[in-house]
Amino acid sequence: MKKIIVLISGSGSNLEAIAKACQNGSIAGSIELVISNQPNVKGLERAQKFHLMSNVINHKEFDSRESFDKALLEQILPVEPDLIVLAGFMRILGKDFTQAFEGKLINIHPSLLPEYPGLNTHQQAINNGDLMHGISIHYVNSNLDDGPIIAQGALKIDPNQSEAKLINRIHKIEHAMYPKVIEDISKGYISLKNGAVVYAKESHFSSNHMEFFNV
Ligand code: GAR
Repeated sequence: MKKIIVLISGSGSNLEAIAKACQNGSIAGSIELVISNQPNVKGLERAQKFHLMSNVINHKEFDSRESFDKALLEQILPVEPDLIVLAGFMRILGKDFTQAFEGKLINIHPSLLPEYPGLNTHQQAINNGDLMHGISIHYVNSNLDDGPIIAQGALKIDPNQSEAKLINRIHKIEHAMYPKVIEDISKGYISLKNGAVVYAKESHFSSNHMEFFNV
């Protein structure tokens, strides 16, 4: 059983999807710890609902990125995690942190990377008249929303739909794909070797995996 730590900053709907997949046994692992950099967020309530251990490390209480990362490390290291999952974690992690967990740190981002790293991805896609929008799941390196892509999911933008509706549709893709990627990592079907993603034949995914969703 792999030991998983999930880092969140907000609603935690991806955390919930992952917790369910751990509970029903499709992920060969368990969430040992949830850490939020924001107090009082819904994700912490969800953690409680699934009886997961959770902690807040409020970034506002630290005067530098390094000291925040150090506090994070102090919580993470004793757990000896096999995988750290960023699920709506909205802090940039420093190079020392990302290098310490190279190949064990994954992120989900609501855009078809390299398009739209950073914030407000949905509105940017709408404003630019894009036909497609989507999500990317990737190993994390020291750059923002960057690193080897494991899988991407896409949908067709309806120009008459609101941003809220688009976010909702994007979440459906995230909740379908993130647990599956974590399942494959937990079973050793996906890994990072020499900076490249390696897929076993048993994996749900393969290189340049782009799945279209009619959601
Ligand atoms: C998700 O859409 C995730 O892709 C995004 O935050 C949302 C969190 O939702 N992450 C990023 O933007 C990271 N750059 P959730 O808290 O309900 O899982």
